[in-house]
Amino acid sequence: MHDDIDRILIPEDEIRAGIDRVAAEITLAYTNRDFTVVAVLKGSCVFASDLIRRIPVPLELAFLAASSYGSGTTSEELRISFLPMDSEIQGRNLLLVDDILDTGRTLYKLKQELLRRGAAEVRTCVLLDKPARRSVEFEADYRGFVVADLFVVGYGLDFAGRYRNLPYVGALKAAAYHRASEAL
Ligand code: XMP
Repeated sequence: MHDDIDRILIPEDEIRAGIDRVAAEITLAYTNRDFTVVAVLKGSCVFASDLIRRIPVPLELAFLAASSYGSGTTSEELRISFLPMDSEIQGRNLLLVDDILDTGRTLYKLKQELLRRGAAEVRTCVLLDKPARRSVEFEADYRGFVVADLFVVGYGLDFAGRYRNLPYVGALKAAAYHRASEAL
């Protein structure tokens, strides 16, 4: 375990099993239906790349990048830095994939934006769901795990840009959190 991690919340083998389950649900839902997985960068890169390799039906892949103004552990104003091309959105069935559903504002706004730009349908899939923090009415169509109201890192999730490469999801030690906050 990395020195800055207080405890592992979801070990690698559980992540694998959770992704197998979600991939099976998605496969069932999209068999004989064209769709595009839209991975929300950067946080979903690890999850999305594992997920798509377990979905044995045709799909396309696109990316968008969204981030909150202001660093730290709360989501504030959303900035979309890039979106798929119009031809990848218009009339398409999109499956937005993100690392974590927290307040819900990010996926709520991204879904609205993609529909506004002409997507035929937008569903959502998250590795983690923190329902205790929800501030808008929004639920993901597919989700891997429910987590408690803790700031989590690893498996694509970062704090101050670090820890995305950890193969598990864990909680940071308070000391690591304070050290990184001071550097922001
Ligand atoms: P909202 O609140 O809009 O947040 O649902 C979604 C985005 O906020 C980030 N986020 C986290 N990132 N550990 C992280 O590493 C967390 O516990 C956490 N909670 C929210 C994340 O970028 C997510 O896409």
